[in-house]
Amino acid sequence: MDHQSHIILPTAFLPPLARLRTFSGAHVSASLRTLRDFYWPSVPSRLTVPVRKASTRIHDQSVPDSGYASAEEDDDDEGGGEGGGEGGGEESDCLTDEEEDILRADPFEREFAIKWTTGFISRSDVWIEDTHDEAEAETRRDLVEEAAQIVSAFAGDDKETECAVTRSFEFSGSVKVELNDAPLSSEDHTSVGLQSWASSIVLAEKMCASPGAFGLDIMSRPLRVLELGAGTGLLSIVVARLSEAGLPPTIVATDYHPDVLANLNANVETNFPSSSSLIHVRRFDWESPDFNHPIDKPFDLILAADVIYHAKHAEWIKGCVERLLAPNGIFWLIIPLRSTGRHEGMDHTVEAVFPESETAYGLVILDKEAIGRQGNVGRADEGGYKLFKIGYDLNPPEEVEVPTLVESKHATFNLKRTPADGQKAYYTALKDAIQLARNQLGDELTAWRDAVGKAELNKETNKTLKEDEEGEEEEEKEKE
Ligand SMILES: C[S@@+](CC[C@H](N)C(=O)[O-])C[C@H]1O[C@@H](n2cnc3c(N)ncnc32)[C@H](O)[C@@H]1O
Repeated sequence: MDHQSHIILPTAFLPPLARLRTFSGAHVSASLRTLRDFYWPSVPSRLTVPVRKASTRIHDQSVPDSGYASAEEDDDDEGGGEGGGEGGGEESDCLTDEEEDILRADPFEREFAIKWTTGFISRSDVWIEDTHDEAEAETRRDLVEEAAQIVSAFAGDDKETECAVTRSFEFSGSVKVELNDAPLSSEDHTSVGLQSWASSIVLAEKMCASPGAFGLDIMSRPLRVLELGAGTGLLSIVVARLSEAGLPPTIVATDYHPDVLANLNANVETNFPSSSSLIHVRRFDWESPDFNHPIDKPFDLILAADVIYHAKHAEWIKGCVERLLAPNGIFWLIIPLRSTGRHEGMDHTVEAVFPESETAYGLVILDKEAIGRQGNVGRADEGGYKLFKIGYDLNPPEEVEVPTLVESKHATFNLKRTPADGQKAYYTALKDAIQLARNQLGDELTAWRDAVGKAELNKETNKTLKEDEEGEEEEEKEKE
């Protein structure tokens, strides 16, 4: 904190909650920032990831805001960090670091700040609904998320939130993993993957406790494993550890954020320093996926933890999984159940895009499990977790209508010309008839693809069409 600045205390700068409805998002934003600056003045990161320059720190434009919050600063925040509070309050003289520490440790101020922040969250619904301006409503929702992070930091996560730490995990008494968790930037909310989230810790423990339930005991063939939104890479590293005794799998750990990918690479190296690692780290964005090597073939196992925190996430991820899950593969998705703020009810967005196997077929939720909070693991706003087991079920439930199944199909496509019309005319007619046949077959295949899961059939159709076209071009050349 700048020694030339004057310190005001939380009791003075936080606006009265009873009058919350009269305060704008910009005003509350300034108050929350002042609160952060007061309790957690910035500490330098010890992580050797690419340093963001000041001009891009506010919001790394290379990474679309994927939903944790919008990181754009309010241009109209009055008075920067300290002027936003209601009433101004008393000003102290310039303080030394020690004096500032004493103020920070003041239990009365701290308790007041915690009560204010939790009170703000609990009144936030009304505050958000109070505005009809969608941009202002979005700002307010972001602020509730920011407040939830502050509550977590108060609850004891502050070291994790602000300092790079090396975390050592031991799952099921034998599987050891070391992870570098970097500080989250309050200015770049898309960098959430710099820390290990509780969902991945909970799933890692389950995988280590019973690898067989996750297909990780298969020794007869090398598995292909993909992690989506890998963050610090815990799940991929655990799979690599569990596979050490068996056939080496191909593990592809993916994320979209450059800093997160750098940290992920560093974590893979920490855990597998000497060997050429089984884990390939790749950039992969669910919103605009690039299905190039090594993400060009189906995966037996797809893993994802805490990757649903925006209304569109489930839909994007479904698109990727449809394309990438092998016919017998399983997609394990674990999400936290948050009961406050904008991430409340995110499990419904998963259930909206992946139907249940009792009511549908194709790519469906085969099973789901509610998991309670695991001791102290997890942020204060995580009330528990939901684990989804998703895969292909090709047995339609009785009540679901399916296209009629027949053993063979015939169709006739009459030629509009005869050989007597000449070779060229006859050939053109033949080509038209083949095109007609292909269209009809394509429509039928599309109906099936929609019914039983797009990916595999889509791939097959594209492949066949491409081969046909190539064959046809050659045929044409031969004729000429
Ligand atoms: C809350 S973190 C969870 C990280 C990690 N799975 C864990 O549980 O610790 C969400 C992760 O999803 C990544 N992510 C968000 N949007 C993404 C997108 N569109 N494509 C790929 N990754 C994305 C973030 O960079 C981040 O690493």
